Amino acid sequence: MKKIFLLPFFLFTLLNLKAQFPAASQTQRQIIVGTENTALVLSVGKNQKLYQVYLGEKLKDPADYLSLPNLHEAYIPSGTDNLFEPAIKILHNDGNPSLELLVADEKTTRDGNLITTSILLKDSKYPVEVRLNFVAFQKENIIKTWTEIRHQEKNPVLLTKYASSMIHLDAYKYWLTQFHGDWAKEMRMEESQLTSGIKTIDSKLGTRANMYQTPVFFLSKNIPSTETSGEVIAGTLGWTGSFQMSFELDNSNSLRMISGINPFASEYHLKPYETFTTPEFLFTFSNTGKGQASRNFHRWARNYGVMDGNGNRLSLLNNWEATFFDFDEPKLTELFGGAKNLGVDLFLLDDGWFGNKYPRSNDRAGLGDWQETQTKLPHGLGYLVEQAEAKGVKFGIWIEPEMVNPKSELYEKHPDWVLKLPNRDEHYYRNQLVLDLCNPEVQEFVYKLVDDMLTKNPKIAFIKWDCNRMMTNTYSPYLKDQQSHVQIEYVRSFYRVMDRLRTKYPKLPIMLCSGGGGRTDYGALKYFTEFWPSDNTDPYERVFIQWGYSYFFPSITSCNHITSWGKQSLKYKTDVAMMGKMGYDIRVNEMTPDELKFSQQAIQIHNRLRDLIWKGELYRLVSPYDEERAVLMYANEDKSKALIFSYALHPRTFNQFSPVKLLGLDANKKYKIEEINKMPGVNSWFAAEGKTFSGDYLLKIGLSLPNNSDLTSAVIEITEEK
Ligand code: GLA
Repeated sequence: MKKIFLLPFFLFTLLNLKAQFPAASQTQRQIIVGTENTALVLSVGKNQKLYQVYLGEKLKDPADYLSLPNLHEAYIPSGTDNLFEPAIKILHNDGNPSLELLVADEKTTRDGNLITTSILLKDSKYPVEVRLNFVAFQKENIIKTWTEIRHQEKNPVLLTKYASSMIHLDAYKYWLTQFHGDWAKEMRMEESQLTSGIKTIDSKLGTRANMYQTPVFFLSKNIPSTETSGEVIAGTLGWTGSFQMSFELDNSNSLRMISGINPFASEYHLKPYETFTTPEFLFTFSNTGKGQASRNFHRWARNYGVMDGNGNRLSLLNNWEATFFDFDEPKLTELFGGAKNLGVDLFLLDDGWFGNKYPRSNDRAGLGDWQETQTKLPHGLGYLVEQAEAKGVKFGIWIEPEMVNPKSELYEKHPDWVLKLPNRDEHYYRNQLVLDLCNPEVQEFVYKLVDDMLTKNPKIAFIKWDCNRMMTNTYSPYLKDQQSHVQIEYVRSFYRVMDRLRTKYPKLPIMLCSGGGGRTDYGALKYFTEFWPSDNTDPYERVFIQWGYSYFFPSITSCNHITSWGKQSLKYKTDVAMMGKMGYDIRVNEMTPDELKFSQQAIQIHNRLRDLIWKGELYRLVSPYDEERAVLMYANEDKSKALIFSYALHPRTFNQFSPVKLLGLDANKKYKIEEINKMPGVNSWFAAEGKTFSGDYLLKIGLSLPNNSDLTSAVIEITEEK
């Protein structure tokens, strides 16, 4: 029905556009960037310009793409005949603001699962080159794309726009799903229909990508996609700084999606022969809804996007919410005992362990002075590592190396190491300032503080790397007359430091934290094993927050802690934390014997099933945005094992939710159903408890889950019966 309805409109659009782009844009040859299921088809016109002719499900016969017209120039430059938002904007040495990009060369190489395509575009009048790069991950159905810009003019050219990618779509309607928030309310999902004009999601934070807007989106064609239906593109930018993603609906109802670094306050003076390399834009296409798009990202992230993505992770006990800044050696060693008693792998010492002239007894002082506070920890970190080991747990530590309190020895010694406008008052956020990481001496300082700590204490087994503020009043004393490079240079410098650290410490697990989830992007996750999604650990809120992240990030990356936030039961908190990398931030000595027993068991259950959760296929069955509950399911690849997490939110009294049809199982197999992770002495009210069903039944009829009332939860294990 829909196709018939759309056809006349589509033909009209084509004819209309064909009239505007005559013979010059006829196809000379095509370049197919393809994965197992997806194709992005580019074509070289007779006029030597590069066009994008298709993005969608791969066709069986590539010759079929030849029937498609060259409607959209692929990477549109500014200054010539373009009337909408360009991908690139340049000012030449002679003051000419135009660029015309013609295909000069192209190359495709294959290396196992990866097909790399590189297309060189050149201007015919100016010695400027733009190289578009694509890596197509065959099995994961992910395409990674980025751009390199170079020139040989005499003096620097000015770049005022330098997108990583421009993608064109043609549909009847377009639906954008975006994720926004703030501190403690990350990843709120919102879907809207795009109207004519430009919709932009961006950030201008400098040190982090995310706070108010997250650099991820879904774009559904024609109708809003669901978990299991609809044509949808999922995209994200791998950049740990200010980003911009714009969606422009033009006069012909075509959509341009442009993603890259935010050019805001970042005009770039590109020197002759210097290459400006944009960050990577990653995207996937699914014609079976958002669920498949997510699973594509999860698989890609584990195989390529995240440090040690297929490895193991350490469960931990963190002391932040248990003690805040108020601790000393005896208190900590007692907590090590708690960690051991609980059965976690590691104790993580959070903020508050450093500073002597200005001890870090609150967040107003000491940041930057990375020496143990003598009064609190007279025997130093080495002693704590030993004590933890003696108690049978590993030891990890919190740092925030890119920041400084004005009340610190570091600030007194190096006032010129701070990003701040010379002629204005300092502007604080969480009482701190950002170090000028653009300065190589600051990079060395950050590298050395981590390296020295690890050299002195080689048994430190984990780092939590925090970054608690964004840039304001930004001015780099080091960059002098190149202030518009600060935002870009900062992120590059961060990666430079991480590159060095990862060369020396390739295996050490490091958690990314940024006052909650401010640094959740695939630019940083190359160097990090996991991230802290939010400081909000109230499990009701976490259901939504973790749900949001689950669209783009695999659960092995999401650190979910059980804390004293929220009035829900320990069972509810634990079930919520289990759908990721589980941890605790709680006073173990205040647990009742039943709570302790339950938690010890929960850790064992998580250890037994964590591979399924971290590396299995995720199916989001019921959305908390649709019903007063959330139900998620993980299934392994051979469909022999699955796990359901079911969280009731705030349903009405005497509520009875309807049965949930499962996904990811084999209709021809038989499965045993069991509720697990119950409080000691609590019986299951689950009608299906201990029963066996066919996969066909579970897929078509489903299960009535046992938790129908306010803030109750259930974990259901599903095992193939042979
Ligand atoms: C940030 C982090 C918290 C904690 C504090 C310590 O807010 O998100 O988890 O580490 O810093 O100051």
